[in-house]
Amino acid sequence: MNKTTAAITAVGKYVPDYVLTNKELETMVDTNDEWITTRTGIKERRILKEKGEGTSFMAIKAAEDLIQKANIDPTEIDVVIVATATPDMPVASTAVYTATKIGAVNAFAYDLQAACSSFLYGMSIASSYIESGRYKKVLLIGADKMSSIIDYTDRATCIIFGDGAGAALFEPNEEGLGFQDEYLRSDGIGRDFLKIEAGGSILPPTEETIREGQHYVHQEGRTVFKFAVSNMADVSEKILERNNLTKDTVNWLVPHQANKRIIEATANRIGLDENKVMMNISRYGNTTSATLPLLLADYEKELKKGDNLIFAAFGGGFTWGSIYLKWAYNK
Ligand code: UT7
Repeated sequence: MNKTTAAITAVGKYVPDYVLTNKELETMVDTNDEWITTRTGIKERRILKEKGEGTSFMAIKAAEDLIQKANIDPTEIDVVIVATATPDMPVASTAVYTATKIGAVNAFAYDLQAACSSFLYGMSIASSYIESGRYKKVLLIGADKMSSIIDYTDRATCIIFGDGAGAALFEPNEEGLGFQDEYLRSDGIGRDFLKIEAGGSILPPTEETIREGQHYVHQEGRTVFKFAVSNMADVSEKILERNNLTKDTVNWLVPHQANKRIIEATANRIGLDENKVMMNISRYGNTTSATLPLLLADYEKELKKGDNLIFAAFGGGFTWGSIYLKWAYNK
């Protein structure tokens, strides 16, 4: 009897309409298009401007895009996971609200937070639910409204991040397609280099924390960059090695979109041509939990059944890892 594997069977996406260009950022902080483009590869990012709307607004739209495109009955969805670092509220799950709004009335739902690796870790959980046989349809959404936690006077962070959401449906597969292997890591040494200091249980909000800007993302970019380059490349190499894959048998690298130079370093280490590397960072910037599913949605038409995909991500915490997945359908 064939082992049941967990395949991605549909994807969806949503990005807000408002485009924040490098030119506009030049009017906000001391930066310029040339610096941003050469150091990061980013040209523009999307910003959710709708008043009173949070991450769930985008998560719902990405899920609805998937449901409509793949003609899914939402009442058949068993689990809804929203991978996010920017939930609607600290308590009252974004995923629960999202599930109810999309009509997934028979699902249970919860949020998953592992910074920029949230979606990657979510792929591990979604696949395990399917492989176990307990659930048949797991909807994993990666969504972040990064603009809600960014200081638009801090040029070290405001040029990088953007808002967006992507969704992927995991279902059982009997042909051996879908999830194959994972190598997931984390290290608390990263806590000091990429964080929002206040608003949690250590430092609840006070007038002082607000005055000091401690509710915004702070990043020591250079340090995070170094860890990201070596770790993302290490785990990708390891996944290739232990699955007997080579640069010729890998069809796509699906890398977290934090910085074009990090993506290129990872691709170089495993010897991959740039036409096998998914990239949309120039249009969306770093959307944290949404980067991987946005790539899948943007490249869906180019993917072929049986393609070998290597996912890789690195984020705050630190959290990082790589997943090997065989694509399961042609569009
Ligand atoms: O997704 C989660 C994980 N996050 C990441 O993976 C991000 C990793 N880090 C990075 O992508 C990069 O470190 C940044 C894009 C954040 C920064 O690029 P960098 O090449 O590491 O620049 P740097 O911080 O070393 O700064 C180089 C110079 C500095 O000037 P001096 O000291 O050389 O005179 C900065 O003050 O560039 C200056 N600088 C800027 N100049 C224009 C820093 N930010 C800017 C800016 N515009 N926005």
